[in-house]
Amino acid sequence: MGLSSDFFKRLKQWQDFVNQGLAKLVPVLSGQASRLTDAMHYSLMAGGKRLRPILVFAGAEALGERPEPLLPVACAIECIHTYSLIHDDLPAMDDDDFRRGKPTCHKAFDEATAILAGDALLTHAFRLLAHEDLETLFPAERIFRLWRLISEAAGLFGMVSGQMADLLAEGRPVSREELYFIHHHKTAALIRASVLAGAILCGASPAAEKALSDYGWKVGHAFQIVDDILDIVGDEKTLGKPVGSDLEKKKATYPALYGLERSRQEARRLLEEAIQSLQVFGPSADFLRDIAYYILERKL
Ligand code: IPE
Ligand code: IPE
Ligand code: MG
Ligand code: MG
Ligand code: MG
Repeated sequence: MGLSSDFFKRLKQWQDFVNQGLAKLVPVLSGQASRLTDAMHYSLMAGGKRLRPILVFAGAEALGERPEPLLPVACAIECIHTYSLIHDDLPAMDDDDFRRGKPTCHKAFDEATAILAGDALLTHAFRLLAHEDLETLFPAERIFRLWRLISEAAGLFGMVSGQMADLLAEGRPVSREELYFIHHHKTAALIRASVLAGAILCGASPAAEKALSDYGWKVGHAFQIVDDILDIVGDEKTLGKPVGSDLEKKKATYPALYGLERSRQEARRLLEEAIQSLQVFGPSADFLRDIAYYILERKL
């Protein structure tokens, strides 16, 4: 099995839908705060893959639910992701100058503005998770569960702790367990939460939730392994971010610990397991299956 023939068309349609949503749901302010919203939109609209918001839609589709009403949730997760990239690139963290094919936020603006743009994107995400349209469509207790899911995945029990561990691991050898912790928290947690968000709002069965959660963890880990591989063998122009950045900073990565070949094998194994997790679903989960292949094969 490989990618469905219309996969890239569907991907593009959903990317456009997310881009329109972000333009609508993230304000542009005038006056004193205009520099802040300029910086937010600069990074948001620089052209990410929109993988996490699209996983929100694909998760809902797998359950036979309409994905469109989940737009505020999808955009909230993209705001959190973009904030994480802005802060990840800061001189105090990975110190990278290019992102999404353009100078990083702190290069195009300045460090303080980049920090604040990240802060505002993160905070605005929770405003979007409390969007009035969600309140009309879904029971309040499900929305509360969604807040718990996203705040845990983005913060102390997820990405922020992973970023801390990533920085603490720089420049020294790490154990397998440590590397697993880093990948699990900094990347897999938010990806898994994206897949699960629709299930929680739409009231999926425990079995369906478990299947989506398993899939989310597996593709989340595979995604970061491929990101680590692309930092070595990727093409800078295609990626829109520097290649060799991990080696330069002596980062704890999969290829650093296991070598390229074993890293590729591990990514493939995880994706096969991710697809197996979807066995409870029929063709409604085909888009999720395609996304798993795409994550493995991607050059960007
Ligand atoms: C990059 O994420 C950061 C990681 C967690 C590896 P993406 O590769 O999804 O970045 P964009 O959103 O497409 O720019
Ligand atoms: C970042 O991992 C994960 C985040 C939570 C932002 P990386 O530092 O490897 O991401 P890139 O390679 O800079 O996109
Ligand atoms: Mg980093
Ligand atoms: Mg980085
Ligand atoms: Mg990387």
